[in-house]
Amino acid sequence: MSCKIALFSSGSGSNAENIINYFSESSDFQFHVIISNKFDAYVHRRAKKLQIPSFTFLREDFSDGEKILEFLKKIETDYIVLAGFLLKIPLKIINAYPKKIINIHPALLPKFGGKGMYGSRIHQAVAEAGEIESGITIHYVNEYYDEGNIIFQAKCPISVTDNAETIAEKVHALEYEHFPKVIENIWGNY
Ligand code: GAR
Repeated sequence: MSCKIALFSSGSGSNAENIINYFSESSDFQFHVIISNKFDAYVHRRAKKLQIPSFTFLREDFSDGEKILEFLKKIETDYIVLAGFLLKIPLKIINAYPKKIINIHPALLPKFGGKGMYGSRIHQAVAEAGEIESGITIHYVNEYYDEGNIIFQAKCPISVTDNAETIAEKVHALEYEHFPKVIENIWGNY
């Protein structure tokens, strides 16, 4: 029996695509839906190409969570992966999926996390702070932004010649390399 995983993405969806491709031959993992909070997010185009159904829920649906939870239950979602998802997950959904929701954050938490810290803003802040390394953090999701238990981190060096764009490239490479494998490791014994 395969476990059914919903991917949440707010933007481009390159991580979602990478994960779906990684598991395309898997009989253990089925990425059966993509959920976004934006109608025009590029992830919908990727979903179409990958032949995965994708849906958009409104901001108000994400503040309460009831409608989304009902939907996830109806389609029998077992786990949730946040791959570039920028809204807070409602408590109702967190409580219904204990230790079954993970997020990827493009920095080394607890540094450069919290509300308003996402995407290129993070890489800009890392560059401005003169950090000598950055990386990725994969963690369980709780009711606070970026504060759930850490599952995995990987680092990349940063030099003085790096800027937000080059840091983003290094971090994306780490995401593509590790995120699918971490998913496989934590839920592989489903
Ligand atoms: C990724 O780098 C992900 O780590 C980050 O958004 C990017 C989405 O890229 N997530 C956050 O900042 C969450 N706080 P993608 O849409 O191409 O996968």
